[in-house]
Amino acid sequence: MVDAEAFIEEATAEIGEAVGDANAVIALSGGVDSSVAAALAYRAIGEQLTPVYVDTGLMRKGETEGIRETFAFMESLTVVDARDRFLDALAGVTDPEEKRHAIGEQFIREFEREAKETDAEFLVQGTIYPDRIESEGNIKSHHNVGGLPEVVDFEGIVEPVRDLYKDEVREIARALDLEAVISERMPFPGPGLAVRIIGEVTEEKLGVARDATHVVEEEVAEHDPWQAFAAVIGKATGVKGDNRVHGWVVSVRSVESRDGMTARAQDLPWETLQRIQSRITGENDDVARVVYDVTHKPPATIEYE
Ligand code: XMP
Repeated sequence: MVDAEAFIEEATAEIGEAVGDANAVIALSGGVDSSVAAALAYRAIGEQLTPVYVDTGLMRKGETEGIRETFAFMESLTVVDARDRFLDALAGVTDPEEKRHAIGEQFIREFEREAKETDAEFLVQGTIYPDRIESEGNIKSHHNVGGLPEVVDFEGIVEPVRDLYKDEVREIARALDLEAVISERMPFPGPGLAVRIIGEVTEEKLGVARDATHVVEEEVAEHDPWQAFAAVIGKATGVKGDNRVHGWVVSVRSVESRDGMTARAQDLPWETLQRIQSRITGENDDVARVVYDVTHKPPATIEYE
């Protein structure tokens, strides 16, 4: 465990030293990692920081509205509506690593544009330790590390929580008095719902994944998983009313973990699973089937792509 006060002091000093009198932008996603990075950077350089939230369209339900409220105290908060550009960048892309790359590049383009407008020379990121080792080991190229385009138009990248594990980041979040909705929030991958959709990302699949994930989050909250969500994994036959339909297969995942490196599928009560099933199929006529993923990590990963 880290000494939170000492860490905050050191990280703040380090950011101040790295950025100096220049301006910086931060990739704000609403997750705990980037929120802590933003709060630290805001402490260090105040108004020199522009927190940029890119609405990729790959976010959870209500995320954009939540961000506006939570970070309203940062006057320079900038919300970019990039939903169409991300969908375009992902059109026809089915390979998981290509998806990450397309998303990573689009992300950086969005930031670069905002950074130019604010004369920012530095990019602050919420990369944490497990992101780095998984990328170095090439298990997956996390968009905020391995997927960066070769030429990034910033003088430097500052990663204040790069040596921390997730539970340590949460500790810092609490010490920084960030709202519980941030400090205790489930981790959400940088590429968002795109890694919870097998194959091409379309607006329709995104809608199914977003609504179903919202149901899962609500229903499993009392069981306090480390991460829980729904993924769109294919199509199968079902019966709705008097008709056979070829609808979406939604896979529900709920795992316990310390840091995401390994995970155990949660032993959820049957009633909870049935309630999830009935809400997801009831709320969306195009979902034919809901399955529960009982695979641990390893051998599976937590996300689907
Ligand atoms: P996996 O699926 O590799 O996930 O078992 C481990 C943890 O990492 C998150 N994850 C990502 N986070 N960019 C991110 O920022 C990514 O590309 C990415 N892929 C997975 C995942 O949600 C889990 O918490």
